[in-house]
Amino acid sequence: MSVKTVAVIGCGIGRSHIVEGYVPHPDRFRVKAICDLNEERLQTIGDEFGIEQRTTSFKELLADESIDIIDICTPPGLHLEQVLDALAAGKHVVCEKPLTGSLKGVDRIIEAEKHARGALMPIFQYRYGDGIEKAKRIVEAGIAGKPYVGSVETFWLRTGEYYSVPWRGKWETELGGVLVTHALHLHDMMLNLMGPVAKVFGRVATRVNDIEVEDCASASLLMQNGALVSLSCTLGSQEQISRLRLHFENVTFESSHGAYTPGKDPWKIIAANDAVQARIDEVIGDWQPVAPRFTTQMAHFHDFLCGKGPLPVTTKDARRAIELVTAIYQSSDSGEEIALPVGPESPKYATWRARTR
Ligand SMILES: NC(=O)c1ccc[n+]([C@@H]2O[C@H](COP(=O)([O-])OP(=O)(O)OC[C@H]3O[C@@H](n4cnc5c(N)ncnc54)[C@H](O)[C@@H]3O)[C@@H](O)[C@H]2O)c1
Repeated sequence: MSVKTVAVIGCGIGRSHIVEGYVPHPDRFRVKAICDLNEERLQTIGDEFGIEQRTTSFKELLADESIDIIDICTPPGLHLEQVLDALAAGKHVVCEKPLTGSLKGVDRIIEAEKHARGALMPIFQYRYGDGIEKAKRIVEAGIAGKPYVGSVETFWLRTGEYYSVPWRGKWETELGGVLVTHALHLHDMMLNLMGPVAKVFGRVATRVNDIEVEDCASASLLMQNGALVSLSCTLGSQEQISRLRLHFENVTFESSHGAYTPGKDPWKIIAANDAVQARIDEVIGDWQPVAPRFTTQMAHFHDFLCGKGPLPVTTKDARRAIELVTAIYQSSDSGEEIALPVGPESPKYATWRARTR
């Protein structure tokens, strides 16, 4: 198996990429370099994992031919430029969410990808874990039947201390609020299980913290398959939970409630009757445990790079999540229902910034 060399840029969540995504797979990845503008962080993480190559220069890593993968874990406002630069340098690229802060930006990335030597994998690590992957297998096997209704809740807590980091809470640097930074994960999980959205009505508000971007949001979706889904998220919940509850004709699914691990077991998978249960047992009876989050997403990425499987998360997936955010913002600003697809004609296509009233 060929070992790919990785440079991690940004050592906040970048540390979790190392711990969960790369260290468990020494036969697949070696973190060769780290980059951060914060020297103290750079030295702490470098010492912790014995990584010799430490730099404050992103450009230096792009020019380094011994690095295969550039893993971007910097603040959101930097992602677009860094992704484009890394693709132009011929690297494979991993990028934290949000990939960028507008559909225009994603479309530029999609264009750049067409001419790139390397592949780009956005991060959506919540898709991985026993609970969500069992649900996905049951839905894909056609057992769940007609989707009726879904409820998706991202109830997290973020206080003033969290927003003391200068890039957070601002349109310019965070790019959006709870919809973009926190609830994007659960919304991606729902889209992954319930399919594409047809129409959106949404409202956003800033009620918890003194910040520019929203920290509460609610949306009502009509899915293309006719199902109705409600999204609800806040950064002011005194008990942090993440929860999806999806009702299909033959099966009701409810995720586990761990705020940052809703993909893990135990999921409630409730069959309508014994015959449905027998079909479920058939498809998940021989279940082999899958590691949650980055551990599995990065393993699949390595398989893809070695020609052994599909790219686990694509720019198209990131675009779909960003399109939903765009529709919710547009609906909240205009008071109107928004039909998808959202394209260049949308007033929110190029930027999400709130309308000045
Ligand atoms: N997937 C997840 O569950 C998850 C969780 C947390 C954060 N994130 C995402 O990861 C990104 C980073 O968030 P964070 O919480 O780690 O932020 P953070 O502020 O803790 O860390 C970002 C790091 O990037 C460094 N940095 C900034 N500009 C840089 C540059 N030009 N070159 C090199 N380093 C630079 C900073 O010094 C800082 O150490 C954001 O996009 C965020 O939304 C994702």
